[in-house]
Amino acid sequence: MSGAGGGRSGARSLSQRDAACLWHPYTQHGSDGAPLEVAAARGATLTLADGREVIDAISAWWTCLHGHGEPRLIEAAERQARRLDHVAFAGATHEPAVALAEALLQVAPRGATPLARVFFSDDGSTAVEVALKIAFHFHAQRGATRRRKFLVFEGGYHGDTVGAMSVGDPDPYFAAFAPLLFEVVRVPVDAAAFEAAFDAAEPELAAVLIEPLVQGAAGMRMHAPDLLQAIDRRCRAAGVPWIADEVFTGFGRTGTLFACQQAGVAPDLLCLAKGLTSAMFPLAATLATEELFEAFRAPERRRMLAHGHSLTAQPIGCAVALESLRLSQERDVAARLARIGARIEAGLAPLVGDPRVVGLRRRGGIVAFDLAPQASATSGSASGAGYFTARAPRLRAAAIERGVLLRPLGDVIYACPPACTTDAECDAIAAAMRSLVEVTFP
Ligand SMILES: Cc1ncc(COP(=O)(O)O)c(C=O)c1O
Repeated sequence: MSGAGGGRSGARSLSQRDAACLWHPYTQHGSDGAPLEVAAARGATLTLADGREVIDAISAWWTCLHGHGEPRLIEAAERQARRLDHVAFAGATHEPAVALAEALLQVAPRGATPLARVFFSDDGSTAVEVALKIAFHFHAQRGATRRRKFLVFEGGYHGDTVGAMSVGDPDPYFAAFAPLLFEVVRVPVDAAAFEAAFDAAEPELAAVLIEPLVQGAAGMRMHAPDLLQAIDRRCRAAGVPWIADEVFTGFGRTGTLFACQQAGVAPDLLCLAKGLTSAMFPLAATLATEELFEAFRAPERRRMLAHGHSLTAQPIGCAVALESLRLSQERDVAARLARIGARIEAGLAPLVGDPRVVGLRRRGGIVAFDLAPQASATSGSASGAGYFTARAPRLRAAAIERGVLLRPLGDVIYACPPACTTDAECDAIAAAMRSLVEVTFP
């Protein structure tokens, strides 16, 4: 048995062993450098196998809310693992799932129609798939079979499964899969453009879907709350559900617990993942109104929502998420993240008016700027976003040399570190972001 893994590895480094057996996400194995060998993490800091320390300024792909190795979350996971690991959630229930659902509904954004039901799944993509399926099937259950289209926004990103890709913008991530994807109505992120498109497509709409206030993967593009108000108004008047994808913006990232709260509106379907367990466990939730739920409740079994995953409502994940939510409230994580964002933004003040930098912006704990377009001249992207340029991995490597893990989205340099990030770490993040301007325009 010694042959498996360790025994045969000899003097090969972790990266060499990795290169022989792994396939990484959003990685070009033909040109991207070797992966970081990460041995441990605490707070905002990753410790590499060679002993170097690097600040995780992207919160483990926007998931790690409180900081790495948060003792309260570890204890919650251990306690729950000893009690109940898992049970099939079709036809069974357990305390962590019920308590988490109750807590989520308690803190969810409040609007005209309360969110009243929680459907658990595994990650952001599945949270979106569930919302799409609920919206689509809701109309079909009521005989409104014309309502099959989703109205979505340019630059939207909702995950990598086929339904989530369909409602996302194919540029830059999904062009290769275009023939697989279903048709949507896609409009610019603008209230007037939305209203015109909504009016034209309304009889065929199943739902409207948006990332509220910040489109993360599109390059931390930020919009004003009035768009959400327009969506809420139009959808309520027409009886079309709207879906808020708060997979990234949820749990305090934008300065309030949920981004929708800044517009004073609540959707009919709310997608949550990432910060839900603060990176400790894969878990997601789709919150729905009672009206949506009721359309599926009937004596006939075939009217049920035909969706589920093996690990739906995994008890350890639910227990961790509940503890994470308690921590968020005790520590006012949304305010903490906003302070962290403001500190990083202050550290970027020398870039204000610098022609090499465009659109310095912040929403809560998310801070971003674009490198000026002339830097994109060879990116091959009409939009200038240039996600697939070789420059982004080079800039990432340059930031790591300066002790900060950044992962530029094409020409967009951003940070959204965890809520435990210290002032000194914020200053180091800002310094690393500034240095990438110098690296790009030497
Ligand atoms: C807004 C949004 N929705 C959905 C997803 C997909 O989440 P996951 O990667 O957990 O599937 C992401 C991921 O970045 C996201 O930012």
